[in-house]
Amino acid sequence: SQPLRLGIAGLGTVGMGVVRIVRQQAALLSARTGRDITISAVSARSKDKDRGLSLSDYAWETDPVALAKRDDVDVFVELMGGEDGPAKDATEAALAAGKHVVTANKAMLAMHGQALAEQAEAAQRSLRFEAAVAGGIPVIKVLTEGLAGNGITRVMGVMNGSCNYILTRMETAGLSYQEVFAEADGLGYLEADPQLDVGGIDAAHKLAILSSIAFGTRVDFAGIELEGIERISIEDIRAAADMGFKIKLLGVAQKTGRGLEQRMQPCLVPDTSPLGQLQGGTNMIVLEGDAVEQIVLRGPGAGAGPTASAVMSDVCDIARGFALPVFGQPATTLEAAKPALSVLP
Ligand code: NDP
Ligand code: HSE
Repeated sequence: SQPLRLGIAGLGTVGMGVVRIVRQQAALLSARTGRDITISAVSARSKDKDRGLSLSDYAWETDPVALAKRDDVDVFVELMGGEDGPAKDATEAALAAGKHVVTANKAMLAMHGQALAEQAEAAQRSLRFEAAVAGGIPVIKVLTEGLAGNGITRVMGVMNGSCNYILTRMETAGLSYQEVFAEADGLGYLEADPQLDVGGIDAAHKLAILSSIAFGTRVDFAGIELEGIERISIEDIRAAADMGFKIKLLGVAQKTGRGLEQRMQPCLVPDTSPLGQLQGGTNMIVLEGDAVEQIVLRGPGAGAGPTASAVMSDVCDIARGFALPVFGQPATTLEAAKPALSVLP
């Protein structure tokens, strides 16, 4: 059969992770999908940057929109980031040109996911984004395939590794928020705009995507009750510990009698619970369904290898011919309900 040809826009942490897997696992990928997976062309801002690997085998496009429309590209892999701008322009151009799209861009999906999904559906092309939520944890696959027989009742979890790192480091080292923030920033753990992490926005982007899939509703970022971790003090952490709790930036989405409740805010969780035990930059997602009851997924929420692993899961599905529409029925809306709880039972 014909090879599946990728065009990769964005050659940073995740993009180069994907290039590495395509090269190093070529035989495995071919055996698993029945098709060779190749790279035709790549794009980034700077052609001359040393990226640790030679990219001279691939055509170069400075303009990601040009890459998205190339005849030798079957799947446009968007790994630039950004809510609007080149990522969105190139994604739209790719779908309009009849390409499948794989992206890790949670910000773009939280804001424009519905419109992009509708465009993909009209073009009968795949729009896949396993890497956009919880990095290496294949949570979207579990929700759409593994739990296909369940009515989902609740989705919750820790979806931002940087915030969990800050909170656990405050707790274990007894350092202030400001001290740990500076440390995390120095280690390169935070987004270029750290407010996306500590303001809970990045995690809320992920929750909006997950809850749309879980409940078959429109992506509703604006409906999330949102609070970040900037105001958590070491005294709060100590007081919580005295009562047997940890403070976690927790996302919760559930259907209530009043509508869809979505919240991303610091919560008290029992320190002996799986969420309470979660350390450092790890993510954890808890899924509850009416048949399965509860499952817990835990793993790396960021980094080149884990995130590229999730991107490749989507690429392989496309190679196998799977093209599930992942966002729920576009016509469905649920009223945003004001959350009633701030401490988990
Ligand atoms: P990086 O900042 O490491 O890389 C971004 C890449 O995009 C760079 O190669 C950059 O080019 C390129 N780029 C940026 N703007 C343009 C443009 N206008 N035209 C062409 N190329 C452009 O980002 P990451 O790899 O960390 O993240 C990529 C995506 O994956 C984002 O959406 C992010 O949210 C998401 N993600 C990242 C995770 C992670 O662990 N890093 C985890 C989960 C999701 P150049 O190199 O020349 O500057
Ligand atoms: N800033 C994000 C985090 C990166 O800390 O979880 C992965 O999405």
